[in-house]
Amino acid sequence: MTELLDTGERLGRGELEALQLERLRTTLRHAYENVGFYRAAFDKAGLRPEDCRTLADLSRFPFTVKADLRDNYPFGMFAVPEDRVRRIHASSGTTGRPTVVGYTERDLDTWADVVARSIRAAGGRPGHKAHVAYGYGLFTGGLGAHYGAERLGCTVIPASGGMTARQVQLIQDFRPEIIMITPSYMLTLLDEFERQGVDPRTTSLKVGIFGAEPWTELMRQEIEERFAIDAVDIYGLSEVMGPGVAQECVETKDGLHIWEDHFYPEVVDPFTGEVLPDGEEGELVLTSLTKEAMPVIRYRTRDLTRLLPGTARVFRRMEKVTGRSDDMVILRGVNLFPTQIEEIVLRTPGVAPHFQLRLTREGRMDALTVRAEARAGATTAEREAAGRSIAQAVKDGVGLSVGVEIVDPETLERSVGKIRRIVDLREAG
Ligand code: DLL
Repeated sequence: MTELLDTGERLGRGELEALQLERLRTTLRHAYENVGFYRAAFDKAGLRPEDCRTLADLSRFPFTVKADLRDNYPFGMFAVPEDRVRRIHASSGTTGRPTVVGYTERDLDTWADVVARSIRAAGGRPGHKAHVAYGYGLFTGGLGAHYGAERLGCTVIPASGGMTARQVQLIQDFRPEIIMITPSYMLTLLDEFERQGVDPRTTSLKVGIFGAEPWTELMRQEIEERFAIDAVDIYGLSEVMGPGVAQECVETKDGLHIWEDHFYPEVVDPFTGEVLPDGEEGELVLTSLTKEAMPVIRYRTRDLTRLLPGTARVFRRMEKVTGRSDDMVILRGVNLFPTQIEEIVLRTPGVAPHFQLRLTREGRMDALTVRAEARAGATTAEREAAGRSIAQAVKDGVGLSVGVEIVDPETLERSVGKIRRIVDLREAG
């Protein structure tokens, strides 16, 4: 295996940290000299790029948040002249302006390298065929996966999202070993395989690289078992690069190694912003170390995780992201993440792995209803038992009384990309 590692992956911890510091200092200088936003922010904090003498000094520098990117829409965060920008991506943004990101030629090259490294860590090899079902377009998933797979030496099938029946056909005809897709869309494919009368365990697929949304250990087991593949996690966000910031290694499946030679991680207390020691849970903050077009300094991801020592690689790991502070529902003072419900639904016999959370207001109280889908053929008694069991498990595990509705098979909306778990009807009601 070690002969497959690239130069960055072969560094010792000391060498890595020296490289990080050098790259960090260059990045801070580049941002300060070329982006008005960073110059103003550093000046306000009374800091110069040179004040960063150790990696720990980074914690003195100000954070960057999504609103900063929106305020500088569209190209105000770029650190190079526009004619050096080779590609633009943007995140849809549910409210207001999208956030725009840019890449120079070298950035695109780095991105392809880190995604190639990710696919290799997942078990992909040159010569494999990779079916890419992340959406192509302004979303970074499709093109990010695409160029990384090509860089590794794979044959890419750029399926993009949607047209589910055709995806299943292509997988049977082209026989890819690798699939790159959101976990929720993989479940949609699962239904389609079954509808077409094909046993999903018999396909050519060996490895699934799943990301762009939170998913649980139980979802991994479900997917691995139903498809007879290895299912590993890929993490990233457009503001920092796209997919390929961190990747789970197939040999350990123990959280995601952050490609620390390109992205410097910190975990902070989401309320105070204080840096937390490795091992403690908080909000992931990322600083780019090699980006040219749009360096990001201490970007608040909103993703909750903790940092752990490296295992299969020298780089530190991040624990699987189980929630994003934006997706946290606070109901009657209790915090709830959709992944907690995912675990319960997946453990419950008689229901399919499809669910939705509906928030409503009853009088002055917020109420939550878990809508889960019955498995085909489940009897009325089984459905009732499943409903009771989910309600009880949420009460015991989360400490909340919720309503549960077991709906008919194939009635909940299916994912074709990132799934929306929460339907908030509180404003309307
Ligand atoms: O979702 C990039 C990506 C594409 C990652 C394909 C992996 C695969 P954005 O649209 O900017 O970029 O959304 C980024 O998605 O802050 C997380 O909240 C969430 N996310 C991404 N990967 C994971 C993951 C892409 N593996 C936001 N687990 C991030 C949990 C994830 N959440």
